[in-house]
This record gives sequence, C-alpha cells and structure tokens, in this order.
Amino acid sequence: MSCFSCVCHRQKEAGRRFSDGMAPRSLSRLVDSLDLEKNAPTPARAKSCNAHSFTLRELAAATRNFKLSNLLGEGGFGRVFKGFLESGQVVAIKQLNQNGLQGSNEFLVEVLMLIMLHHPNLVSLYGYCAEGSERLLVYEYMPQGSLEDHLFDLPPNKEPLDWNTRIKIAVGAAKGLTYLHDVVHPPVIYRDLKSANILLDNDFNPKLSDFGLAKLGPVGDRTHVSTRVMGTYGYCAPDYAMSGKLTVKCDVYSFGVVLLELITGRRAYDFSKKAGEQSLISWAHPLLNDRRRFTQLADPLLRGRYPIRALYQLAVVTSTCLHEKPHLRPSMLDVVVALDLVASQPYILENNQRDGSGSGPISPYLSDNDQKDSSPPPAPPTWKAASAPATTNSDGLKGYNHLLANT
Ligand SMILES: Nc1ncnc2c1ncn2[C@@H]1O[C@H](COP(=O)(O)OP(=O)(O)OP(=O)(O)O)[C@@H](O)[C@H]1O
Ligand SMILES: [Mg+2]
Repeated sequence: MSCFSCVCHRQKEAGRRFSDGMAPRSLSRLVDSLDLEKNAPTPARAKSCNAHSFTLRELAAATRNFKLSNLLGEGGFGRVFKGFLESGQVVAIKQLNQNGLQGSNEFLVEVLMLIMLHHPNLVSLYGYCAEGSERLLVYEYMPQGSLEDHLFDLPPNKEPLDWNTRIKIAVGAAKGLTYLHDVVHPPVIYRDLKSANILLDNDFNPKLSDFGLAKLGPVGDRTHVSTRVMGTYGYCAPDYAMSGKLTVKCDVYSFGVVLLELITGRRAYDFSKKAGEQSLISWAHPLLNDRRRFTQLADPLLRGRYPIRALYQLAVVTSTCLHEKPHLRPSMLDVVVALDLVASQPYILENNQRDGSGSGPISPYLSDNDQKDSSPPPAPPTWKAASAPATTNSDGLKGYNHLLANT
C-alpha cells in the first residue's frame, strides 16, 4: 500500500531533501561523523555504526541487475528486490524512486534510525548505497513478506493466518513499539505503523520496517513535537491529523488499527466496500464495546477458531488504543502486558478440526473450547491486575479503567 500524508502529501515533505548529486561517500562520512556513541538511543550503543556502504555495482550484481523476477514488491519509496550478496547472504534491497516520489530526506532518516536502533522486532539494516542519484537500502530478507500480504485478498491456495499466529504478530509488533517508546531515549515516534510495514520471518515473528517518517519524541517538559501531518490514510490518529501534534500515543492509535485488521481481516480503509463499511474504525466501533455482538468482528477466515474470552479481551485492548483522547490511550508497555494475557489463552485445535473437517461457520459462542454455553463472556477476572503492571504510567491505566467501567 502506498503511503501518503493525511493532510499534505508525503511527497511534499520530501521537498527538504539533501542534494540529489550527493557524492557516494558523503552519506557514509555524515554517518561516521555523527557522535553515535554519545547520541545513539541508549541500548543501541554497542551495535551502532555497523551498516555497510555498498556500491551500486555490488547491489546490481546481487539482484541480477534489478531483474523483475527478483521483485518482492513496490511501495511509495520505490521497488524492493530480493538480492544475494557475494557472501551468500540473502537480502531485500529497496531502490528509491528516481523520479523522487519519496524523498532522500526519508532515506537519510531511515539509515540513521536503523543504524541506531536494534531490537528483535525491528528489521535490521545491513547497509545502504548513495551513488550519484541512486539511493538504495539493504535490509535483512523477511521470507514471509508483510502482514498485509497474509491478511487481505488472499489467493485461494494461501492459508489464512490462524488466531495464535495473529496474536504472536500483535505481541511482537507491540514489543517493537515499546522499545521505541519506552526503552530508547529520547523516544522514537514511528509514525507509519500499518500492516504493510510489519514484515514476517519464516516463523511469523514480526519486525517493524520503514523508519523514513520516524521522529524523535519530545524531551523534558514538552508534551509533543509539532510536525506536518504524515502517515497513511486509515491509520493516522485523528488528534494528530487535526493538530499536527505528534506524541507516542499517535503510534498507539495506529497499533489499534492494526489490531482491528488482525481481528477482522478487513483493511483500515477499503474503497471497494459499500458506503458505511469503507472505514474499518467506523464499521467496527459499535461492535467493539458490545459484549453481545463483538464476535461479529471476527475474520470469517478464522472460521470460528478463536478463544472467545481472548477475542473479547483483544477487542477491549483495541478499543482503548483507539480512544479518541490520546491521553486515555494506554502506553505500549501496558498493551504488551495485556496482549501477553491474550496470548496466554491460545486456541487449541481439536483433533476433528485438524484435517479440515469440523470447520465452517459455527455459532460464535460455541467456538471457544472453554466456553460451550451461549451466554456472552464475562469480563476476564484477571484483566485488571494484568493490565496494571508496576512499571506502567498512569495514562495507560486510565485508558483501561475507562473501558472496564463500561463493561
Ligand atoms: N525486508 C524485506 N524482506 C522481504 N520483503 C520485503 C522487505 N521489505 C519490503 N518487502 C516487500 O516489499 C513490499 C513493498 O514494501 P515497501 O516498504 O516499499 O512498501 P509499503 O510498505 O507497501 O508502502 P510504503 O512504503 O509506500 O508505505 C512489501 O509489501 C513486502 O512485500
Ligand atoms: Mg513499507
């Protein structure tokens, strides 16, 4: 999915780019000249400055001259190719659009951010190339592509993601965001969380990619940073879209949208749907807090195979992330704790379901192994305690309490 600004086009933001004619070694000199040891977000120090500067010749050789059969996908930044380095390493190589649809500014932010940030749930940058007007980024290769590829418009031969895998992806992505918000200092606001930017390895471990829009968060007494509104339609927090005030809670909102996509298998915004159903949030809103109707949210491709209590809990987490008021949204740290609780109740396939028999739509209240009666699920008994870790900030707790008061 192409990325664009909610108010002004992302393309415009790229106006303030460094010169296209930048010499190949200029970027590496700039990277080297940054005092990363002092300025890198804290946990990254040991590993900082380890991205390699590739020549265009090396990357052309790795992709058989950017052959179309090596093409993995294409976004607003440009094309992404699968490549094989001389060392035998498999990589993904992103080539900036020559006609400048996305900016070199974002290229630089991406390189600098990924050099400094290291976490199992962030994609690794192996290197970059800035030669003449060419700008390329070399990432670790993620064999299962993006979450988007596994949720929407699946070809008939592709298995949909099961419940447990969806939760694993949600937990991993939440941990990546927690690292950006609560571990590194100053915090990093990702600004472009969406299912297309959550990449998956062979075991469906998720990693966040695309840091071109990332911003350093406010420090000291400041509550927000002011920016032009950037992001992707359908994922952008309404408060940010209206005011341009960027806080970590904008990422929490976008995370809520991704959770909703994971639950429903519907796109954040889908122009092919009839009026009233195009915006996922508008469609889902009345169902999210309704204890009798929330099962209508579940992706039909799950075929009723989910633990109903955990689905309800996930709907509550989603709803808090999407809270209209940013200060009532939970912190990502709170979200991880809540999702761990959801993950602790996996869906266990019964023997007669493994071979495909026993599948098909079934009554939502009968779909849970633990819950065979047709009454709506009670509020989870451990919920309050589990969502109140000692480390959370009060904003996060307020977010949950507000919701729990309505259940
Ligand atoms: N590291 C990677 N490993 C494997 N495939 C990748 C990797 N990075 C990107 N891809 C593939 O390339 C596609 C395009 O990615 P890209 O980030 O350029 O665009 P996007 O995220 O869909 O949209 P945009 O960046 O414009 O917001 C992805 O959907 C994914 O399938
Ligand atoms: Mg992307």
